[in-house]
Amino acid sequence: MPRVHTYDALVVGAGGAGLMASLYLGRHPGVRTAVVSKLYPTRSHTGAAQGGIGASLGNMDADGDRPEWHTYDTVKGSDYLGDQDAIEVMCKDAPDVVYELEHMGLPFSRTPEGRIAQRRFGGHTKRFGEEAVRRSCYAASRTGHAILQTLYQQCVRHDVQFFNEYHVVDLLIEDGACRGLVALELATGDLHVFRAKAVLLATGGHGRVWEITSNAVTLTGDGLALVARKGLPLEDLEFYQFHPTGIYRMGILITEGVRGEGGILRNSEGERFMERYAPNMKDLASRDVVSRAIYKEIRAGKGIDGKRYVHLDATHLGREVIEKKLTEIADFCRTYLGIDPVETPIPVQPTAHYAMGGIPTNVDGQVLADETGTVVRGLYAAGEAACVSVHGANRLGTNSLLDLVVFGRRAGDHMAEYCANADLEPIGEEPTAAAHERIERLRNREGGERAADIRAEMQHLMMESVSVFRTGELLEEARDRLAELAERVDHISIDDKGHEYNLDLTEAWETRGMVELARVITECALNRTESRGAHSREDFPKRDDENWLKHSFAYLRDGKIDIAYKPVTITRFQPKERVY
Ligand code: FUM
Repeated sequence: MPRVHTYDALVVGAGGAGLMASLYLGRHPGVRTAVVSKLYPTRSHTGAAQGGIGASLGNMDADGDRPEWHTYDTVKGSDYLGDQDAIEVMCKDAPDVVYELEHMGLPFSRTPEGRIAQRRFGGHTKRFGEEAVRRSCYAASRTGHAILQTLYQQCVRHDVQFFNEYHVVDLLIEDGACRGLVALELATGDLHVFRAKAVLLATGGHGRVWEITSNAVTLTGDGLALVARKGLPLEDLEFYQFHPTGIYRMGILITEGVRGEGGILRNSEGERFMERYAPNMKDLASRDVVSRAIYKEIRAGKGIDGKRYVHLDATHLGREVIEKKLTEIADFCRTYLGIDPVETPIPVQPTAHYAMGGIPTNVDGQVLADETGTVVRGLYAAGEAACVSVHGANRLGTNSLLDLVVFGRRAGDHMAEYCANADLEPIGEEPTAAAHERIERLRNREGGERAADIRAEMQHLMMESVSVFRTGELLEEARDRLAELAERVDHISIDDKGHEYNLDLTEAWETRGMVELARVITECALNRTESRGAHSREDFPKRDDENWLKHSFAYLRDGKIDIAYKPVTITRFQPKERVY
């Protein structure tokens, strides 16, 4: 018999969104809260976020900064696909949440007067696009790490319970309400049942669907796959951001903060090529623009030594700036490349970085069951796994950490209220049966396919055909090959038949989910016959507001993908052409 744990609220994932929500739940006496995480919390990927969190504090600019300027930049950066009511909430809450983190003890870098230091980031401006503003609040180049440690300490202080190294394999949803989940304890291989009044999914991104990515090996889109398997929709998965500066071939992130401090991208001729692509914002144009420019330079034969990378030149910034403000970057370059960025330009290429789409939610984190706004009672999502949608077709740097903490906080608050007024609903007789059957089938199969081979094929295919530039032809081919991979997934067998820390098994499990997501991403990308933000179709190079100013809601049904649509919420800013 599986062990059954009963709580009021469960949070799946212990990154920034999960911990912020847990903290807000934990502050409500009477709401018993547990976090179920496949990692030890401080290993969560929020820890890899470098350059900062956006908030219009206006600490560095004489004429200050304002939430409505931040809102405008975010709407424009999203290529007008972001929902403006949600963006307004995020940008308005930003200063408050940053000060809240400061008061929890987060060690932000400081101005000489002792205020939170801020720096430039792509697409952030003052007076509705007139000139660049310093809006990114940072802790050297380890802002995410500082947020994660701070929130974890606060959760421990508030007696939040943690089930670390538990991999969630099923959601218990009955009669339109989430009543708990099933998780595999990695240390023993046992299945556990967690009952609750409400569950929040904060499982992070799915960058591992691509070959070159800034995402840790754990970012396999588990939460999205869980939701899709329940027949629930995924929103806007065709919009995936490639960060312009990943370390060549490794994908490891080199923060945009390097360009924020004055770093410059150069091609093989030493030319500052962004002057041609974005005469105003240059190297700090939004990420989709810069990534496409790098691809074009490489295609034109201007990659360094004819290879698929350009240089990020920080040599003119001087040792002090690099050592003090870009500490982590200096370390990465020395460790992974054996170069000193003080003296040598950094080889970079666009790297799969961030999912703008995800599990659709409203601004309180409630998961949507359909494109009309029906909510799944007791099911919440926040952070990169969710799509509120504040990033639309392209996210501005620093808005990711902000999204985590603003909507983590709102979801936690809403859940606490929900739990205070809801009853614990009964669950079915054999809650682990479906997961058990699938796991044992996988464990007992002999002589089948290796998950690692399928995963590598999928990652390579996605990198070649569903990345910065897309065409109908490439996408159709990718769709067909992914359908074949999905069939092969059913024949995966594993070598390790044991129960304790069976990573062979969990990796095979994750591979199945990633192939499902890759299929949804590709189908939605093929379906959207326009170019918008990070979705750039060479056969449909223009944005088409008449037909495509709408969100995709994709449903995985009996192995088929059905797509429906939801209108974009526009409050103040009417769509315009984006000029940088
Ligand atoms: O470049 C960076 O530091 C990444 C920040 C972000 O994705 O928001």
